This record gives sequence, C-alpha cells and structure tokens, in this order.
Amino acid sequence: MTTSQAATRTAGLRDRAEAVIPGGVSSNVRLLAPRVFFERGAGPRLWDVEGNDYVDYLLGQGPAFLGHAHPQVTEAVARAVRSGMVYGAQHALEVEAAERFIAAVRWPDLVRFGVSGTESVQGALRLARAATGRRRLLRFAGHYHGWIDNVLMDFGAEGGRPGTLGQPADALADWLVAPFNDTDALAEVFSAHGEEIAAVIVEPMMCNQGAIVAEPDFLEALRALTTAHGTVLIFDEVITGFRLALGGAAEHYGVTPDLAVYGKALAGGWPVSALAGREELMGRFGTGEVNHSGTFNASVMAAAAVVATLEVLTEDPPYERVAEHGTRLRAGLAGLGDKHQVPLRIQGLPAAFHVSFGGPRSVGGSAPVRDLSGLRELDLVRYAEFSRLLAEHGVWVAGRGIWYVSAAHGDAELSDALERVDAALTADTGTA
Ligand SMILES: Cc1ncc(COP(=O)(O)O)c(C=O)c1O
Repeated sequence: MTTSQAATRTAGLRDRAEAVIPGGVSSNVRLLAPRVFFERGAGPRLWDVEGNDYVDYLLGQGPAFLGHAHPQVTEAVARAVRSGMVYGAQHALEVEAAERFIAAVRWPDLVRFGVSGTESVQGALRLARAATGRRRLLRFAGHYHGWIDNVLMDFGAEGGRPGTLGQPADALADWLVAPFNDTDALAEVFSAHGEEIAAVIVEPMMCNQGAIVAEPDFLEALRALTTAHGTVLIFDEVITGFRLALGGAAEHYGVTPDLAVYGKALAGGWPVSALAGREELMGRFGTGEVNHSGTFNASVMAAAAVVATLEVLTEDPPYERVAEHGTRLRAGLAGLGDKHQVPLRIQGLPAAFHVSFGGPRSVGGSAPVRDLSGLRELDLVRYAEFSRLLAEHGVWVAGRGIWYVSAAHGDAELSDALERVDAALTADTGTA
C-alpha cells in the first residue's frame, strides 16, 4: 500500500464513521482524540490501518493491563464460548471467577459481576442507601464515577454541576462534594452532615484527573469518619483495581472499604466489571431486597476472561515489572523535558502517572499537585495538543495526561517511546 493509499483509507473510514456514528466515535471521551483507525493490537503496541505502529500507554483507557490480545486470555475466552455465551442461569466458570476474585482481592466476602464500571457504581450507591436508609452521598472534586445522570458532574464550577445537556438539573441534588486530600474539610462535612450521608465514594488514587495519590492519613481519616457515622465507604477501583496491586488500592494503601467497584484491568480487556464487599451489604442482593440485574452479568466470556486474567496475575505477578518500567519511563520523560527545556511535569505512581506542562516538578522532589484546584494551575491544554503530536510520532496516550503501563511493556517499548517523545519534543519546540 502506498502512503497516499493508506491515508485515503483513514480518510475513507473517517467519512464512513461520521455518516453512521455520531461524531464518528462510540464514546464521547474519544471525540477529542486523534481520529486514528486501528487494525490490530498485540502486547504493548497498536497498528493503524496505514501500517503505523504505536507504543500504547493508553491501553484502551486502562483495560489492556496485560497488553493487547494476551494469548492466555484470548484462548480461554475462545475455548469457553464454544459451549455457549449467555445461559440466563449459573455456570461453573462464573463460580470459579468469583472464587478467584475473592482470593485475589482478599478483603471482600461476596462479589457480583457486571459489564461496565458505570453500572456497578450504581449498584454500590443503591446498596449503601438501602443499608443506611439515608439519601445523601459524598464525593470528591474531580473524581469520575460514570456517565449516568446521578453521577456525571462537571467540576468547572465550584461544587459541581450537571455534566451534559439533557441531565436533569436536580439529578445531582443528593451530592455533597469535598476537595480530595483535605482531611479538615472532610471532618467539617461529617460534622455538619454525618448522620445524613449514606455513602462516600472515592477514587482512592485520583486517576481520572492528575493521577493524584491519596496523601498519608487521608484514606485512614475517611475510613474512621465513615465508620464513626455509620456511612458506607465505597472505593471506586475501576482504574486502580488489579493495577496498583492484585488487591488494588485497598491493598496498596492498606485501607479497607465496605464496598468497591472494579472494571478495566479485571478481565484483560474484556468488558467486565465487579461490585464486591462485605457480606452484610452484598448479601442484600442475595435476599432479593435490593435489586441488581443484568442480562450479560457473568456471561461465559466474562467469566472465562476473569479466570484467565486472574490466573496470569496470580501465577506471574507483573507488579514489580510494571513499576520498574514506569519508573524508567518517567525518568526518561523527565530527562527529555530537561533536554528540550520544557516544564514537563510528571506525578502519580509508576503504573499510572500524569504528564503535563507547567507547575512544580514532582519528579526530582518538588511538591506534587494534591487536588483539583492544584491541577488547574497546570497547562493541560498544551499537553492535550502535545498528545496529538505524540500520536503522529507513534506514541498513543490520552489527551488528559494519564499514562498507563502494562505488564507487556519491555525495553524495546521504552527505548522506542523515549525516542519518539524526543522527536515529538523536537518538532514541538524546535530544539534538537
Ligand atoms: C474511576 C472510574 N469509575 C467508573 C468508571 C466508569 O466505568 P465504565 O467506563 O466501564 O462505565 C470509570 C471509567 O473510566 C472510571 O475511571
């Protein structure tokens, strides 16, 4: 295929997509991303229809933690679906998936599988309200918990407002919003409203914006306040689950919630979510007093993908490898920032970190951003533009700054990625 034939293929697909799919994309998160059409993914790399390869640090927004098309997972799913896909009843693989899940995460008593993080969050909020008989909910500025009316929030305005047209103005009326990492503000909210709050939901690491880690004591304070006020503590581990550690953020931070929601890395790229927690709460699904349903919950494919993914993660835990790769990648990026004299700023954890321009440098010692207001001081717009340039140079990352490292990234990807970032910075700054 010549270069011009290849480019025509992308343009043709873009035209066809825009004719039949609103905006040419199937999730609004992708509206601002470069309009690349991928043909193939293997391990840590993607190939587009023009034959270009990309080192992938977006990982489908997180799910491809084992890399794309991990052979053990794809073969397990292919084998399983030969016996059917959805039975509308129980099956042995579903039981094995749940057993392996509980054995891996350790603190929960019970688990229910779903399809998306968004819907499992809804189950958690419902359970908390059912158990407490309370209505109000508390969350943190900048955290994301799905795209449904009662959780989607635009944090452009202080306190949060509806995130989209079509969302009823009162859809968010039950929410209290506090700044992340502010133990004093948290104590104040609980002292004013503690007895009304059914649940607190938190991204234990604020991955969706800024890869902001919880400061020492913040999650402990949250745990203590929720326990003292009879409030259910929900960890939204959709990103952190199976990524920060096998037991997710709960294991990483050593703080145990009452309920937690998982997705993304749980099933090697297959669309599976989970809601897990203490028997006293989760058991209410089992008695039927609280509804949780779903045609595709624990389908044969989902169960096979969970079993195979958890097999891989427990038999060959990749966490040290991932941390080592992420640490070297971050150091390499910081070095390139210095070389090109741009204020490249990196913070988070090696497995999931945030890159932006401006603000204090966290690699090298200066203070990391600790909440949404600090994040707003960074030049996120410049980074979003730079991420498009990275795509042109063969590094696939999210425009909002998060970089995810997979178990499949190795030395070749590290050197390719740094060479390509170097070339993109040269193009961006005119420095060589
Ligand atoms: C922390 C968090 N919670 C919930 C969700 C929603 O999950 P899903 O996109 O699978 O509905 C996401 C998605 O990115 C997320 O990052």
